[in-house]
Amino acid sequence: MKDKVNQIQEELANDIQKVTSSKELADLKVKYLGKKGLVTELTSNMKDLSIEEKKELGKLSNEIKNEVTEALRKLEESIQNKELQKKLEQETIDISLPSEKIKRGSRHPFNRIIEDVEDFFVSMGYDVVDGPELETDENCFQRLNVPLGHPARDAQDTFYIDTEYLLRTQTSSAQARTMQENIEKTPIRMICPGKVYRRDDDATHSHQFGQVEGLVIDKNISLADLKGTLELFAKKMLGENTKVRFRPSFFPFTEPSVEVDVSCFKCGGKGCSLCKQTGWIELLGAGMVHPNVLRMGGYDPKIWTGFAFGTGLDRLTMFRYAIPDIRFLYTNDIRFLEQFDRKDEENEIK
Ligand code: DAH
Repeated sequence: MKDKVNQIQEELANDIQKVTSSKELADLKVKYLGKKGLVTELTSNMKDLSIEEKKELGKLSNEIKNEVTEALRKLEESIQNKELQKKLEQETIDISLPSEKIKRGSRHPFNRIIEDVEDFFVSMGYDVVDGPELETDENCFQRLNVPLGHPARDAQDTFYIDTEYLLRTQTSSAQARTMQENIEKTPIRMICPGKVYRRDDDATHSHQFGQVEGLVIDKNISLADLKGTLELFAKKMLGENTKVRFRPSFFPFTEPSVEVDVSCFKCGGKGCSLCKQTGWIELLGAGMVHPNVLRMGGYDPKIWTGFAFGTGLDRLTMFRYAIPDIRFLYTNDIRFLEQFDRKDEENEIK
Protein backbone atom coordinates (compact mmCIF):
# COMPACT_ATOMS: atom_id res chain seq x y z
CA MET A 1 0.00 0.00 0.00
CA LYS A 2 2.76 2.40 1.01
CA ASP A 3 4.53 1.56 -2.22
CA LYS A 4 1.46 2.48 -4.20
CA VAL A 5 1.21 5.80 -2.38
CA ASN A 6 4.87 6.51 -3.04
CA GLN A 7 4.39 5.66 -6.65
CA ILE A 8 1.47 8.06 -6.87
CA GLN A 9 3.48 10.80 -5.22
CA GLU A 10 6.37 10.32 -7.60
CA GLU A 11 4.15 10.21 -10.64
CA LEU A 12 2.31 13.32 -9.50
CA ALA A 13 5.56 15.23 -8.99
CA ASN A 14 6.53 14.23 -12.50
CA ASP A 15 3.18 15.12 -14.06
CA ILE A 16 3.03 18.51 -12.38
CA GLN A 17 6.27 19.52 -14.09
CA LYS A 18 4.75 18.92 -17.50
CA VAL A 19 1.48 20.82 -17.10
CA THR A 20 1.35 24.14 -18.91
CA SER A 21 -2.37 24.83 -19.47
CA SER A 22 -5.74 24.67 -17.69
CA LYS A 23 -6.79 21.94 -20.08
CA GLU A 24 -3.85 19.73 -19.10
CA LEU A 25 -4.55 20.48 -15.45
CA ALA A 26 -8.15 19.34 -15.82
CA ASP A 27 -6.91 16.05 -17.33
CA LEU A 28 -4.56 15.65 -14.40
CA LYS A 29 -7.40 16.11 -11.90
CA VAL A 30 -9.32 13.34 -13.59
CA LYS A 31 -6.25 11.11 -13.64
CA TYR A 32 -5.75 11.37 -9.85
CA LEU A 33 -9.05 12.38 -8.27
CA GLY A 34 -11.64 11.27 -10.82
CA LYS A 35 -13.99 8.34 -10.24
CA LYS A 36 -11.43 5.97 -11.63
CA GLY A 37 -8.49 8.15 -10.63
CA LEU A 38 -5.33 6.76 -9.04
CA VAL A 39 -6.13 8.14 -5.57
CA THR A 40 -9.76 7.05 -5.65
CA GLU A 41 -8.73 3.56 -6.68
CA LEU A 42 -6.57 3.17 -3.55
CA THR A 43 -9.69 2.61 -1.48
CA SER A 44 -11.67 0.60 -4.01
CA ASN A 45 -10.95 -2.83 -2.47
CA MET A 46 -11.50 -1.93 1.19
CA LYS A 47 -14.30 -4.38 1.86
CA ASP A 48 -11.94 -7.42 2.12
CA LEU A 49 -9.74 -5.74 4.73
CA SER A 50 -9.82 -5.93 8.51
CA ILE A 51 -11.07 -2.95 10.50
CA GLU A 52 -7.53 -2.03 11.51
CA GLU A 53 -6.32 -2.16 7.99
CA LYS A 54 -9.35 -0.18 6.84
CA LYS A 55 -8.57 2.52 9.37
CA GLU A 56 -4.95 2.78 8.33
CA LEU A 57 -5.74 2.72 4.67
CA GLY A 58 -8.47 5.30 5.13
CA LYS A 59 -6.09 7.63 6.93
CA LEU A 60 -3.36 7.13 4.37
CA SER A 61 -5.65 7.60 1.42
CA ASN A 62 -7.11 10.74 3.01
CA GLU A 63 -3.64 12.12 3.48
CA ILE A 64 -2.61 11.43 -0.06
CA LYS A 65 -5.92 12.82 -1.33
CA ASN A 66 -5.36 16.05 0.56
CA GLU A 67 -1.80 16.18 -0.61
CA VAL A 68 -2.80 15.72 -4.25
CA THR A 69 -5.69 18.18 -3.95
CA GLU A 70 -3.42 20.82 -2.45
CA ALA A 71 -0.70 20.27 -5.04
CA LEU A 72 -3.21 20.58 -7.85
CA ARG A 73 -4.75 23.66 -6.29
CA LYS A 74 -1.37 25.36 -6.16
CA LEU A 75 -0.69 24.31 -9.69
CA GLU A 76 -4.07 25.71 -10.76
CA GLU A 77 -3.30 28.99 -9.10
CA SER A 78 0.04 29.34 -10.81
CA ILE A 79 -1.36 28.37 -14.21
CA GLN A 80 -4.21 30.84 -13.89
CA ASN A 81 -1.75 33.54 -12.96
CA LYS A 82 0.42 32.76 -15.93
CA GLU A 83 -2.54 32.70 -18.27
CA LEU A 84 -3.85 36.00 -16.96
CA GLN A 85 -0.43 37.55 -17.32
CA LYS A 86 -0.20 36.37 -20.88
CA LYS A 87 -3.64 37.74 -21.70
CA LEU A 88 -2.80 41.10 -20.17
CA GLU A 89 0.39 41.27 -22.18
CA GLN A 90 -1.44 40.47 -25.37
CA GLU A 91 -4.09 43.05 -24.73
CA THR A 92 -1.75 45.81 -23.71
CA ILE A 93 -2.33 49.04 -25.58
CA ASP A 94 0.83 50.99 -26.19
CA ILE A 95 -0.44 54.54 -26.12
CA SER A 96 2.91 55.82 -27.32
CA LEU A 97 2.56 54.04 -30.69
CA PRO A 98 1.63 56.22 -33.67
CA SER A 99 -2.00 55.80 -34.69
CA GLU A 100 -2.97 53.81 -37.74
CA LYS A 101 -2.99 56.02 -40.83
CA ILE A 102 -6.43 56.57 -42.26
CA LYS A 103 -6.12 56.39 -46.02
CA ARG A 104 -7.80 59.23 -47.81
CA GLY A 105 -9.09 58.79 -51.32
CA SER A 106 -8.38 61.47 -53.87
CA ARG A 107 -10.12 62.94 -56.87
CA HIS A 108 -9.24 61.27 -60.13
CA PRO A 109 -7.13 63.62 -62.32
CA PHE A 110 -9.74 63.33 -65.05
CA ASN A 111 -12.47 64.52 -62.67
CA ARG A 112 -10.29 67.41 -61.54
CA ILE A 113 -10.05 68.57 -65.13
CA ILE A 114 -13.82 68.30 -65.65
CA GLU A 115 -14.46 70.27 -62.46
CA ASP A 116 -11.98 72.97 -63.50
CA VAL A 117 -13.50 73.24 -66.96
CA GLU A 118 -16.99 73.48 -65.48
CA ASP A 119 -15.89 76.06 -62.88
CA PHE A 120 -14.38 78.23 -65.56
CA PHE A 121 -17.38 78.21 -67.88
CA VAL A 122 -19.97 78.47 -65.12
CA SER A 123 -18.14 81.57 -63.89
CA MET A 124 -18.63 82.98 -67.42
CA GLY A 125 -22.38 82.35 -67.29
CA TYR A 126 -22.55 79.05 -69.18
CA ASP A 127 -24.93 76.19 -68.36
CA VAL A 128 -23.56 72.67 -68.01
CA VAL A 129 -25.73 70.28 -70.00
CA ASP A 130 -25.80 66.54 -70.35
CA GLY A 131 -26.57 64.44 -73.38
CA PRO A 132 -27.05 60.72 -74.01
CA GLU A 133 -24.10 58.58 -75.04
CA LEU A 134 -26.42 56.47 -77.14
CA GLU A 135 -27.31 59.06 -79.77
CA THR A 136 -29.14 59.27 -83.03
CA ASP A 137 -27.26 59.60 -86.29
CA GLU A 138 -29.36 62.70 -86.80
CA ASN A 139 -28.02 64.54 -83.71
CA CYS A 140 -24.47 63.29 -83.99
CA PHE A 141 -24.08 63.97 -87.72
CA GLN A 142 -27.00 65.12 -89.82
CA ARG A 143 -28.00 68.17 -87.81
CA LEU A 144 -24.33 69.12 -87.69
CA ASN A 145 -24.19 69.41 -91.44
CA VAL A 146 -22.81 65.92 -91.98
CA PRO A 147 -25.43 64.19 -94.13
CA LEU A 148 -25.43 60.44 -94.81
CA GLY A 149 -22.52 59.51 -97.04
CA HIS A 150 -20.55 62.68 -96.21
CA PRO A 151 -16.76 62.01 -96.29
CA ALA A 152 -16.27 63.71 -92.88
CA ARG A 153 -17.86 60.63 -91.27
CA ASP A 154 -14.78 58.58 -92.19
CA ALA A 155 -12.62 60.60 -89.77
CA GLN A 156 -14.70 59.40 -86.82
CA ASP A 157 -14.74 55.60 -86.72
CA THR A 158 -18.23 55.13 -85.38
CA PHE A 159 -19.74 52.32 -83.32
CA TYR A 160 -23.16 51.96 -84.95
CA ILE A 161 -25.97 50.26 -83.06
CA ASP A 162 -28.22 50.20 -86.13
CA THR A 163 -28.88 52.59 -89.00
CA GLU A 164 -30.52 55.10 -86.66
CA TYR A 165 -28.55 54.84 -83.40
CA LEU A 166 -24.86 55.00 -82.56
CA LEU A 167 -22.49 55.66 -79.66
CA ARG A 168 -21.80 59.37 -79.98
CA THR A 169 -18.39 60.07 -81.50
CA GLN A 170 -18.40 63.70 -80.37
CA THR A 171 -20.12 65.78 -77.72
CA SER A 172 -21.02 68.14 -80.58
CA SER A 173 -24.23 66.11 -80.68
CA ALA A 174 -25.25 68.19 -77.65
CA GLN A 175 -25.29 71.27 -79.93
CA ALA A 176 -28.11 69.83 -82.01
CA ARG A 177 -30.09 68.85 -78.92
CA THR A 178 -29.58 72.16 -77.10
CA MET A 179 -30.66 74.23 -80.08
CA GLN A 180 -33.91 72.31 -80.46
CA GLU A 181 -34.70 72.15 -76.76
CA ASN A 182 -33.68 75.69 -75.80
CA ILE A 183 -34.84 77.73 -78.73
CA GLU A 184 -37.10 79.84 -76.52
CA LYS A 185 -34.27 80.44 -74.05
CA THR A 186 -31.82 81.93 -76.55
CA PRO A 187 -29.20 83.39 -76.05
CA ILE A 188 -27.53 80.04 -75.40
CA ARG A 189 -24.31 79.56 -73.49
CA MET A 190 -23.61 75.94 -72.73
CA ILE A 191 -20.91 73.37 -72.31
CA CYS A 192 -21.42 69.63 -72.47
CA PRO A 193 -18.67 67.48 -70.96
CA GLY A 194 -19.01 63.72 -71.39
CA LYS A 195 -17.88 60.43 -72.80
CA VAL A 196 -17.57 59.73 -76.49
CA TYR A 197 -16.66 56.56 -78.38
CA ARG A 198 -14.59 55.74 -81.44
CA ARG A 199 -13.05 52.60 -82.85
CA ASP A 200 -9.52 53.51 -81.83
CA ASP A 201 -7.03 52.05 -79.37
CA ASP A 202 -3.34 52.85 -78.73
CA ALA A 203 -1.11 54.80 -76.30
CA THR A 204 -2.76 58.13 -77.08
CA HIS A 205 -6.22 56.96 -78.22
CA SER A 206 -8.87 55.00 -76.38
CA HIS A 207 -12.16 53.60 -77.70
CA GLN A 208 -13.80 55.71 -74.99
CA PHE A 209 -12.62 59.17 -74.08
CA GLY A 210 -13.86 62.48 -72.74
CA GLN A 211 -14.74 65.61 -74.65
CA VAL A 212 -16.22 68.94 -73.79
CA GLU A 213 -18.32 70.83 -76.26
CA GLY A 214 -19.12 74.50 -76.01
CA LEU A 215 -21.81 76.48 -77.81
CA VAL A 216 -22.79 80.12 -77.73
CA ILE A 217 -25.66 81.54 -79.78
CA ASP A 218 -26.60 85.18 -79.55
CA LYS A 219 -26.80 88.28 -81.70
CA ASN A 220 -23.54 89.83 -82.95
CA ILE A 221 -21.29 87.00 -81.81
CA SER A 222 -17.99 87.11 -83.69
CA LEU A 223 -14.73 85.21 -84.00
CA ALA A 224 -13.23 87.77 -81.60
CA ASP A 225 -15.58 86.52 -78.85
CA LEU A 226 -14.45 82.96 -79.54
CA LYS A 227 -10.81 83.99 -79.42
CA GLY A 228 -11.17 85.89 -76.16
CA THR A 229 -13.04 83.04 -74.52
CA LEU A 230 -10.58 80.36 -75.56
CA GLU A 231 -7.59 82.49 -74.60
CA LEU A 232 -8.92 82.85 -71.07
CA PHE A 233 -9.78 79.17 -70.98
CA ALA A 234 -6.27 78.11 -72.03
CA LYS A 235 -4.69 80.36 -69.39
CA LYS A 236 -6.95 78.99 -66.69
CA MET A 237 -6.25 75.36 -67.59
CA LEU A 238 -2.58 75.50 -68.53
CA GLY A 239 -1.15 78.56 -66.82
CA GLU A 240 -1.18 82.33 -67.05
CA ASN A 241 1.66 82.54 -69.57
CA THR A 242 -0.07 80.36 -72.14
CA LYS A 243 -0.41 81.93 -75.58
CA VAL A 244 -3.05 80.93 -78.09
CA ARG A 245 -2.98 80.89 -81.89
CA PHE A 246 -5.74 80.17 -84.39
CA ARG A 247 -5.08 78.21 -87.60
CA PRO A 248 -7.61 77.92 -90.39
CA SER A 249 -9.15 74.47 -90.54
CA PHE A 250 -12.26 72.60 -91.64
CA PHE A 251 -15.19 71.20 -89.68
CA PRO A 252 -18.54 70.60 -91.38
CA PHE A 253 -20.45 72.33 -88.58
CA THR A 254 -18.49 75.59 -88.47
CA GLU A 255 -17.65 78.29 -91.00
CA PRO A 256 -15.00 79.59 -90.71
CA SER A 257 -13.35 76.76 -88.77
CA VAL A 258 -10.18 77.03 -86.78
CA GLU A 259 -7.81 74.81 -84.96
CA VAL A 260 -6.51 76.30 -81.76
CA ASP A 261 -2.95 75.77 -80.59
CA VAL A 262 -1.48 76.74 -77.24
CA SER A 263 2.13 77.62 -76.57
CA CYS A 264 3.95 74.56 -75.25
CA PHE A 265 3.63 74.61 -71.48
CA LYS A 266 6.69 72.41 -71.07
CA CYS A 267 9.25 74.53 -72.91
CA GLY A 268 7.32 77.80 -72.94
CA GLY A 269 7.39 77.88 -76.74
CA LYS A 270 11.12 77.37 -77.32
CA GLY A 271 10.69 73.89 -78.78
CA CYS A 272 11.00 70.50 -77.09
CA SER A 273 10.08 66.84 -77.50
CA LEU A 274 6.49 67.38 -76.30
CA CYS A 275 5.71 70.03 -78.93
CA LYS A 276 7.91 68.30 -81.53
CA GLN A 277 10.17 71.37 -81.61
CA THR A 278 7.34 73.60 -82.92
CA GLY A 279 6.66 75.47 -79.67
CA TRP A 280 2.91 74.85 -80.12
CA ILE A 281 0.46 72.16 -79.09
CA GLU A 282 -2.90 71.55 -80.73
CA LEU A 283 -5.70 71.84 -78.19
CA LEU A 284 -9.10 72.49 -79.73
CA GLY A 285 -11.31 72.56 -82.76
CA ALA A 286 -13.64 75.54 -83.05
CA GLY A 287 -15.37 77.96 -85.34
CA MET A 288 -18.46 80.03 -86.07
CA VAL A 289 -21.61 77.92 -86.14
CA HIS A 290 -22.38 77.04 -89.77
CA PRO A 291 -25.54 78.72 -91.12
CA ASN A 292 -26.88 75.27 -92.09
CA VAL A 293 -26.54 74.10 -88.49
CA LEU A 294 -28.29 77.24 -87.23
CA ARG A 295 -31.09 76.74 -89.72
CA MET A 296 -31.54 73.07 -88.80
CA GLY A 297 -31.68 74.11 -85.16
CA GLY A 298 -34.49 76.56 -85.93
CA TYR A 299 -32.45 79.80 -85.99
CA ASP A 300 -32.38 82.41 -88.71
CA PRO A 301 -28.66 82.93 -89.48
CA LYS A 302 -29.41 86.51 -90.51
CA ILE A 303 -30.39 87.28 -86.92
CA TRP A 304 -28.38 84.81 -84.87
CA THR A 305 -24.71 83.96 -84.89
CA GLY A 306 -22.69 81.75 -82.63
CA PHE A 307 -19.45 79.97 -81.98
CA ALA A 308 -18.69 76.41 -80.98
CA PHE A 309 -15.64 74.57 -79.80
CA GLY A 310 -14.71 71.08 -78.75
CA THR A 311 -11.73 69.53 -77.04
CA GLY A 312 -10.55 66.21 -75.67
CA LEU A 313 -10.55 66.04 -71.89
CA ASP A 314 -8.12 63.14 -71.72
CA ARG A 315 -5.65 65.10 -73.79
CA LEU A 316 -6.02 68.07 -71.46
CA THR A 317 -5.52 65.83 -68.42
CA MET A 318 -2.44 64.23 -69.94
CA PHE A 319 -0.94 67.64 -70.72
CA ARG A 320 -1.73 69.09 -67.34
CA TYR A 321 -0.29 66.21 -65.33
CA ALA A 322 2.38 65.02 -67.82
CA ILE A 323 0.78 61.58 -68.14
CA PRO A 324 2.48 59.62 -70.92
CA ASP A 325 -0.18 56.99 -71.66
CA ILE A 326 -3.95 57.51 -71.91
CA ARG A 327 -4.55 54.03 -70.46
CA PHE A 328 -3.36 55.23 -67.04
CA LEU A 329 -6.59 57.19 -66.87
CA TYR A 330 -8.73 54.06 -67.14
CA THR A 331 -6.85 51.17 -65.56
CA ASN A 332 -7.31 52.38 -61.96
CA ASP A 333 -3.81 51.45 -60.84
CA ILE A 334 -3.71 52.60 -57.22
CA ARG A 335 0.00 53.53 -57.52
CA PHE A 336 -0.89 55.97 -60.27
CA LEU A 337 -3.93 57.39 -58.51
CA GLU A 338 -2.14 57.86 -55.18
CA GLN A 339 0.17 60.39 -56.78
CA PHE A 340 -2.79 62.76 -56.89
CA ASP A 341 -3.30 62.66 -53.13
CA ARG A 342 -1.28 65.78 -52.75
CA LYS A 343 -1.98 69.29 -53.90
CA ASP A 344 -2.67 69.78 -57.61
CA GLU A 345 0.32 72.05 -58.04
CA GLU A 346 2.83 69.40 -57.10
CA ASN A 347 1.75 67.29 -60.05
CA GLU A 348 1.40 70.02 -62.56
CA ILE A 349 4.00 70.66 -65.19
CA LYS A 350 4.54 74.34 -65.29
N1 DAH B 1 -16.34 67.58 -82.58
C1 DAH B 1 -14.98 67.82 -83.02
C2 DAH B 1 -14.16 66.56 -82.86
O1 DAH B 1 -14.59 65.67 -82.19
C3 DAH B 1 -14.39 68.96 -82.25
C4 DAH B 1 -15.01 70.25 -82.60
C5 DAH B 1 -14.47 71.04 -83.61
C6 DAH B 1 -16.12 70.71 -81.96
C7 DAH B 1 -14.99 72.24 -83.95
C8 DAH B 1 -16.67 71.93 -82.30
C9 DAH B 1 -16.10 72.70 -83.30
O2 DAH B 1 -17.74 72.43 -81.73
O3 DAH B 1 -16.64 73.89 -83.63
O4 DAH B 1 -13.11 66.49 -83.40
